[in-house]
Amino acid sequence: MPLVTTADDGSVKSVKLPRPSNPHGHVRDGALREAVTPWVLANTKHLIVMPNVDPPLKTVEASLTYLGEVERIRDRLGLGTNVLGTLYNHDGITPKMIEQMAATKRIVSVKCYPAKAGMTTGSGQGIPLEQTSDDVLRAAIDNNIVYQVHGEVDTMKDGTPLEPAMRERYYMTDVLPYVRDAHPDLRISVEHGTTVQAVRLVDGDPSGKTVMTITPQHLLFVDDDFMQPWGNDLKCMPILKWPTDRAALIKAATSGDRRFFAGTDTAPHPSRKKRGDFQLAANGCWLPHWISLYTQAFHAAGKLDSVFDDFMSYSFADWMGLPRPEPDDTVLVTCDTAHDIPAPINIEGEDDVVIPLGWTETGNRLRVGFSVRADF
Ligand code: NCD
Ligand code: ZN
Repeated sequence: MPLVTTADDGSVKSVKLPRPSNPHGHVRDGALREAVTPWVLANTKHLIVMPNVDPPLKTVEASLTYLGEVERIRDRLGLGTNVLGTLYNHDGITPKMIEQMAATKRIVSVKCYPAKAGMTTGSGQGIPLEQTSDDVLRAAIDNNIVYQVHGEVDTMKDGTPLEPAMRERYYMTDVLPYVRDAHPDLRISVEHGTTVQAVRLVDGDPSGKTVMTITPQHLLFVDDDFMQPWGNDLKCMPILKWPTDRAALIKAATSGDRRFFAGTDTAPHPSRKKRGDFQLAANGCWLPHWISLYTQAFHAAGKLDSVFDDFMSYSFADWMGLPRPEPDDTVLVTCDTAHDIPAPINIEGEDDVVIPLGWTETGNRLRVGFSVRADF
């Protein structure tokens, strides 16, 4: 159980939870990587770093080299995060490569992006799950490799275009079920699921071979929130959905069903790419305050209990066969309305910053109500 302390009036003062894990974080490369990696590693037990750098991580060697760079930053800071890798799904992946990555024990999954360029950052340089060859998927099953799937498609099979709010729905009802049925033993993680249809798909597989990560932004916000002064910060793919979808996500996340767990999709962009015209703004939310945001969502649902521990700290580790945090390895979340949004981060050598979700220069900021120290 997380240790919750309360004030005399019953309000929450602090929450101590086992060190959480994050199966989905972007740390980029170059100066941006140096700037953001400490924040992505902080307070994190296990992290899978995403492969949509330029060029994407398409080989075991490239992925290992990249992991080495992230570990160099980790070791310099003295952080204990277990950093894991994933390959960018493309048609050059062979069964032999799947065996090689499994042998590393550090590259634990293949990440599938939508097939079309521009659907989100770095998409369109590979193939989606449904175009992946049967022998590669068979090798993944045999070697216990997970497929992490960004489940969206922008046209129906007959060529009809799909607007952003419909892309995941269609994928979950008309694309993914066929792969699921054809390969019942394949371990699939629906990444950043956002819809009623995604929850139903996971629910419909009692084998436990289908799981889903849920981001804090999709638990807390709906499409109307794009009207907030910091609305551009919320722009990420899959796009924020409707109140009915958010209700389904909250229900799944707080149900105690261990197939649903945290995964942030924290994805930094320099502010020049996020500010300005909404249509042109880059996709991706920068979430150095991810633990506070999840705490806010679970607090609002009245579920700061063992279900929160599972969602944040245990379910992903158990599903991947990774060690749980030791009993004394905890993170303290304090109720703190004064300093709840971390400041923007400078990018050395660039006259720009990375802005956390909800930030404005004025008092118009998102109020989270909780904060966590990041020590590094
Ligand atoms: C991600 C990014 O910026 O790397 N953007 C996003 O909209 N979530 C890409 C991704 O989807 O993983
Ligand atoms: Zn992502």
